[in-house]
Amino acid sequence: MSFIEHPDFDALCDALAPKIAEVVRVGTSENGVASLALAGGSTPFPLYRRFAEQDLDWSCVTLVPGDERWVAPDDKASNLRAIRAAFAGVSPRFGSLVPDQPGAEPSLDVARATLAETPQPFDVCVLGMGSDGHFASLFPGAPELRTALDPACDEPLVIVTPDPMPEDAPYSRVSLTLSAIMASRYPVLVLRGERKREVLDAARGADPQRNPVAALLAQIDAPLDIHWSP
Ligand code: 6PG
Repeated sequence: MSFIEHPDFDALCDALAPKIAEVVRVGTSENGVASLALAGGSTPFPLYRRFAEQDLDWSCVTLVPGDERWVAPDDKASNLRAIRAAFAGVSPRFGSLVPDQPGAEPSLDVARATLAETPQPFDVCVLGMGSDGHFASLFPGAPELRTALDPACDEPLVIVTPDPMPEDAPYSRVSLTLSAIMASRYPVLVLRGERKREVLDAARGADPQRNPVAALLAQIDAPLDIHWSP
């Protein structure tokens, strides 16, 4: 596990976008195809736009949100909608974790079908983190958290019912589990700002039920990179 500090977010994008592209190139040369699980929220989108400028055979690349809000893929709160917009200039394949018309009760049917059609394991999994220590949609207080953070969990997907609901996006979620995230060839956590660095520092050795990113930091032998900038 490496912690890489950058002077600003632009420098982070300059360093990380080519690195992600290189992992994708290795994936496509070995397997003919590559897949990435991408965080939503807001932080990584300049990185995605920089990554979209990389010289790749985009027709071999599948992009799937690593977690999704239980909203239609064209809803303004949809992570997939935001990801599609960031890659508007290239033509990867996109996969959704939710149906076009989500019903009242979240289900994993569409997410499972999408993963079945997506090269596995993911070549790259980009993660963000909230100021409560959640990553993907693995929120403190969610009843599903213990299972979802179990490194031996054999289910790659989980429905998450945040409790309390996040104020900025009060939706049930579909999320990759920790074990699916750590199975990716290159998991990378992208953080911006002092507050997030404090949350990360406080997570070392903390109870993952209170600060879920502690479970990620406990994977010390994993090829996880943490990129941070002010
Ligand atoms: C989501 C995300 C989530 C996000 C963090 C950080 O659906 O909300 O995928 O895990 O990465 O909440 O969000 P910011 O980058 O906006 O701080």
